Amino acid sequence: MKPARKRKNPYEAGVAALNFRPEQDWEVEQARAMYTGARFPFDVDRVVFADCLEGMRRLPAGCVDLVIADPPFGIEFDGKGSQYNRKDDLVVDGYKEVDGDYDRFTLAWMSELPRIMKETASAYVFSGWTNLKDVLVAVDKVKLAVINHIIWKYQFGVFTQRKYVTSHYHVLFLAKNPGNYYFNKVEHYPLDTWDIPRTYRPGQEKNGTKLPEAVVYRCIDFSSQPGDLVFDPFMGNGTSATCAKARFRHFLGFELNEKIRGMLEHNIGAVQAGDDYLPYRTMLPPAEELARRYPAVRKALKGKPPHAAPPPNGDGER
Ligand SMILES: C[S@@+](CC[C@H](N)C(=O)[O-])C[C@H]1O[C@@H](n2cnc3c(N)ncnc32)[C@H](O)[C@@H]1O
Repeated sequence: MKPARKRKNPYEAGVAALNFRPEQDWEVEQARAMYTGARFPFDVDRVVFADCLEGMRRLPAGCVDLVIADPPFGIEFDGKGSQYNRKDDLVVDGYKEVDGDYDRFTLAWMSELPRIMKETASAYVFSGWTNLKDVLVAVDKVKLAVINHIIWKYQFGVFTQRKYVTSHYHVLFLAKNPGNYYFNKVEHYPLDTWDIPRTYRPGQEKNGTKLPEAVVYRCIDFSSQPGDLVFDPFMGNGTSATCAKARFRHFLGFELNEKIRGMLEHNIGAVQAGDDYLPYRTMLPPAEELARRYPAVRKALKGKPPHAAPPPNGDGER
């Protein structure tokens, strides 16, 4: 029997992470210049209070770099149930549910996506498991390619007696052209399972369905560049707008619920462009942390200065 061939570079846990650098990265001033220098043939950085089905038809072809879509749930949901542990008077009324069949609604709005997406654009579509079938059928019909099927696990769901507690969401990562979509690998080992708690902001007014910023930042960071246009057909609280702005991206979106207007505009106005922008390399785990976790990293770092890997996030670069 032949002896097993030795790998030239044997895999050592942590060492690849230590040596990893994001594919594309920009200093703060570079990102700001890309943001301020971007030009669009229509008004951006606004939320239009209208039905997204109509609104999307009026957008020019190939204008969007990234879609983030968190459609209504298609269940009798007003975000106010006691099971959500929310104070009703802080939850804004008028969340618009789907009129009619969920499959028809889903196919209708998704049919507009391929036309408005740039050739390199991608889309993140959120869905609970109960609607997933309709969303997957629509994805096939409109001929978008599924690149990843991401599971977002949040820390708890609605209490149950006779079944398991639902504590995950499906996030479909879709491309218009699977051979040519923009993807910036900003982490060494980005899993398709995202363990991100829902954020609670006691005492703040909200529409009951807000996505955590950390979830939206992942979509923006991996799938767009500073200055790009992020489109959200279902703005809700405006999380994709505030996250886009905070990361030096432009945004455009629709929302049917007029009662949300004040809160949404307040949320967007409270963020300055680039507020939450840092070069990606500064967000990687620092060498010290990798050294604590991996013996091979400790070995690799022996004799090297302690900052062989990037400094931790928030190191005062700005
Ligand atoms: C699940 S929520 C979005 C939450 C949002 N991602 C956030 O983080 O706040 C869906 C939103 O879509 C809105 N909506 C429902 N049908 C719509 C339509 N046809 N056009 C535009 N907005 C719609 C609802 O009023 C609701 O605010």
